[in-house]
This record gives sequence, C-alpha cells and structure tokens, in this order.
Amino acid sequence: MIRADLLSDTVTRPGFAMREAMATAVVGDDVFGEDPSLRELEARVAELLGHEAGLFTPSGSMANQLGVRLHVKPGEELIGDSLAHVLRAELGAAAVLSGISSRTWVSERGRFRAADAAALMITGVGPYQVCTALVIVENTHNFGGGTVQPLDEIRRARELTREHGVAMHLDGARLWNAHVATGVPLEDYGREFDTVSVCLSKGLGAPVGSVLVGGAEAIAEARIWRKRFGGGMRQAGILAAAGLWALEHHIDRLSVDHARARRAAEAMAEAAPGSVDLATVETNIVIVDVAAAGWAAPEFVAAALTRGVRSYAVSARAVRLVWHLDVDDEATGHAIDVLTSLLSRGGQHTA
Ligand SMILES: Cc1ncc(COP(=O)(O)O)c(C=O)c1O
Repeated sequence: MIRADLLSDTVTRPGFAMREAMATAVVGDDVFGEDPSLRELEARVAELLGHEAGLFTPSGSMANQLGVRLHVKPGEELIGDSLAHVLRAELGAAAVLSGISSRTWVSERGRFRAADAAALMITGVGPYQVCTALVIVENTHNFGGGTVQPLDEIRRARELTREHGVAMHLDGARLWNAHVATGVPLEDYGREFDTVSVCLSKGLGAPVGSVLVGGAEAIAEARIWRKRFGGGMRQAGILAAAGLWALEHHIDRLSVDHARARRAAEAMAEAAPGSVDLATVETNIVIVDVAAAGWAAPEFVAAALTRGVRSYAVSARAVRLVWHLDVDDEATGHAIDVLTSLLSRGGQHTA
C-alpha cells in the first residue's frame, strides 16, 4: 500500500468540496463560447497574471505548445535550457506541430540567467541562419528540482529580447509555488512575458486543465489553434469550476507543501550527508542524490516503494520527491522514516 505518494504533484485526487463545485457548475458549449464558468476562469487567471485574456486548455503541454505556435514561425527557432519541460518532456511537439527547431543552453538546476539566453539568441540573419523567435523560461523548474527563477534575470532578458524583437513565453506550470515561496506577486512575473501557461492540475490539485494568458489578439489566435490541435471542448465548465475552486483555496496552502518538503530534506541531509543539498530545496520538490549513499536510483525507488513510498528516478543517481495536497504530516513522517533508513544503511546492502 502506498502511504506517501511523492511521485508527482499531478497525482492528487479532487476532494469533496471541489467535486461539489464541479457538480453545480453552470455550463454551456465552449466551442460556441457559451460556457460561463470557463469564461470566468479564463478572465480570473488573466487578471491574476496581468494579461488581457486567457484560454483554457486540457493540459500544460497544450498551453505551452500554443504559446510556441503563436510566437515561432515554421523554420524559426525557440531557445531554452536543456532541462526545460517544453524541450525534454513534450515529445518533440514544437518540431512536430509547429515545424520549428530548438537550441538549448546548459543550466545549473534549471536556474535562468539572461546571459545564457543572450549568448544563444541570434536575429536578423535572414536567409543564412535560423533566427531566434522565442525564449522559454520555466518557473518553478521541474527537473531542476523546484528551482525558483530570479526576477532580475527575467527582467534583464526581457529588455534584451525586446530590443531584438524576440518573444518570451513562461512555462508557469508551478508559478504558484514560486509566488508563494518568494512573495513576488503573480502579476510581476506575468507581465515580463508575452504569454504565460499555468497548470491547475499540479500543486493546486484540480483534476484537469491549464490556462494560457496573453494579449487579446494573441489569445484569439490561440483559440483557433487550440481547435485545430483538437482541444476545443464543450461543457468544460465542469473542469473550470474545479480550477476556480483551486484558485480560491489552494494557492496559499502551498507553503505547507514547501515546509513538509524542507522537513524531509533536512532529515535526509542529516541521515546521509551529501544526499541532499539543502540550498537547492526551494519549493515542493526535493532531489536526492541517492548515489552519495551507495544506491542506484532505480533500486532506491523500488526499495522505497515496497515500504509504501512512491518516488521517481530522474537520473541514474538521483531521485525526485514531490510534496502536494495528498501528502499530509503523517505521510511525510512515514516517508522520512523510510527514506532516512534506506539512505543511512546504504545501497550496497540492497533492498
Ligand atoms: C514544468 C512543466 N510544464 C508543463 C507540464 C505539462 O503539463 P501536462 O502534464 O498537463 O501536459 C509539466 C508536467 O509535469 C511540467 O512539469
């Protein structure tokens, strides 16, 4: 039996109050623009992020790919860090759906630096080389381990890209976590980008859905592309109701997930020095270097699972643990017992 599911913050199940909000949602046919709950959600998220308009999508990947589609013409390129979700985990969608190429820079745990973007960006090279049309930033950074992006670096990049006519898209699947960890208003992050995608189905605990925000014209165009990509939905207000409920009740509480992640990280760092660098624990994600305790990551994941703790091997030597709504103090305590005991006894003793 799984007692602490730390696989991802996407595994949450909607609670009763959220389901009740879904059951009583006022709905209509959204392809005809007639779903009041969806309209409300889109307007609410756009307002929170300081943009004119919003568009509900079935997934974060679709919201990101619509952002890419809006800004990059076939044959142009986007640039981003080599661990970015858009580049690593959307299965080549930018190339397949938009006919574009990508180049990447190497980052430290996904941390964004304007200088990395500046060094790669190339514009005005006409028929000779590929022109950069878009810079992608991910905040917080998933594979980087919940890394919060520095606002001053984002602002620096914004100035630079503006000078060169290059757009910026924020993959803000976990922007809520960055906002809660730093106190920076969502709008301050949002307004530095041409488009922003945010997920309702990660830390916020809704079952489905993301929102892409941007200028009114851009979002009107994205609405056409969403239909073309097969993402036009009918009575999706049922899903919007869950999102609205999550926005109301589940943003501030993310600080609890952050505190539980830190508590576990501190226990592991003490049990097995070198396994967790506490300076890297910024939000709800903890990356554990299990190799430092003699484990191969897949074996560590298997040993933890037999003791009721689910985790994810992000590389041969590191395991990712993610805190969310469905991991309470008791589950965190159980995870700490299991993980510290495995780490301190070391992998050479096997599971
Ligand atoms: C940073 C980031 N962006 C985008 C996505 C894509 O979201 P979805 O799974 O809804 O397509 C994820 C999913 O985990 C993610 O971590």
